[in-house]
Amino acid sequence: MRSRHDRILDLAERHLSLGVESGIIQRRIEDETLDDAHITIDGRKIVNFSSCAYLGLNRDDRLKRAAIDATERFGTSYSSSPTYTALPLYDTLEERLRQITGGAVAIAQTTTLAHLAALPVMIGPEDLVLIDAQTHDSVHLATRVLKGDGARVEVVAHCDVDALERRLDEVARDYRHVWFLADGVYSMHGDLAPVKEVADLQERFENLYTYYDDAHGFGWQGEHGRGYVLSEVPLNERMVMAAGFAKSFGSVGAVLAFGDPAMARRVRLVGGPLTFSGPIPPPDLGAATASAEFHLTEAYTERQSRLLDDIDWVRSEIVRRQLPVVSLATSPIWFIRVGSPGRVAEMILRLMADGYYLNAAAFPAVAPGDGGVRFAQTLHNSRDQLRGLLDAIEHHLPLVASATDVVIDLTEEADIRIEGSVLEEH
Ligand SMILES: Cc1ncc(COP(=O)(O)O)c(C=O)c1O
Repeated sequence: MRSRHDRILDLAERHLSLGVESGIIQRRIEDETLDDAHITIDGRKIVNFSSCAYLGLNRDDRLKRAAIDATERFGTSYSSSPTYTALPLYDTLEERLRQITGGAVAIAQTTTLAHLAALPVMIGPEDLVLIDAQTHDSVHLATRVLKGDGARVEVVAHCDVDALERRLDEVARDYRHVWFLADGVYSMHGDLAPVKEVADLQERFENLYTYYDDAHGFGWQGEHGRGYVLSEVPLNERMVMAAGFAKSFGSVGAVLAFGDPAMARRVRLVGGPLTFSGPIPPPDLGAATASAEFHLTEAYTERQSRLLDDIDWVRSEIVRRQLPVVSLATSPIWFIRVGSPGRVAEMILRLMADGYYLNAAAFPAVAPGDGGVRFAQTLHNSRDQLRGLLDAIEHHLPLVASATDVVIDLTEEADIRIEGSVLEEH
């Protein structure tokens, strides 16, 4: 009898192999240099709708010059843990991030490492963790460390504030702290965490702490791009926001923003990967600092409103065309339900043939059989490109629904549901 763990891995492998064999994932682009919106695959230039550089800052001249300048001044790497010494750019970046987030901050090398640095420091064996089922895999990864340290970890239904409240009523008093972990903007479906409602629960439950991964909401949303989560509620003493620079911010790295300065100090001092891993390399640090400075200018606000207008426009087109999106929330991520992995592959291939690259979303990124195509819009994408893509989706969707399907047999895996990280049992 195969273990559940093996069956989950087999299922993930079968889905991903189908994607690789049909040529829709793990592709290497063929461009020698890039322009804003295109990538070349199989000798054809197609429009890239899989980039998360929402504001187009990844190709901004100010960021490029800052990356080059930092490289020339400091080299390609600064090979020392920030615990000992760090480049002066760390100070500038921290100061700007304090202004942007309104909190005490710690800088990490990636969002994944930010979770691994902060969560095991803040959460101990006397605590309960309630994690939203669809929280990003990087947060689930950190919960394995928490479990190893003795904390109890439970998965709660996605965006279900009533279910969360019921569980808090049942168990909150039995624990020192209860931590609710969630994403701000969900990376696959583009839907949003009920941040305000959960903040209201913090009034009722004085030992409720919140931790949001706002990797996809940071940079393009909120005042100075402080992100979706902090545009809903400001930081409070029992709240932490983690976000990365690798998406809208146009660089690499991450920030943890805390309402409680003592908590920030502790994580900065003893957070594992902040102490035992290297720093953000000079080029990325230069670009991140220039990006943070840009977020504090008037020009930023103008750029942000252009993206928000484009998001509104896409939403109205999706509604007009009655495309089956999972969420119509204000976010630059859109997910259109297609169904089985075979149909998802067929849909992506048809869209590639029409000149558009989108992300296939199937197990393990979403529940088995609940696949779809996901696209992200950035300021690199013109309205004409967006219109062309929506026309193509509208045209192909009914054809794919009636096409013969490549079936992945799910009977043996009927009990496998997305319950947090699909690769582990909670
Ligand atoms: C919600 C979310 N969190 C974290 C990550 C990982 O970010 P990083 O590459 O900075 O570790 C991603 C990556 O795509 C993500 O979508």
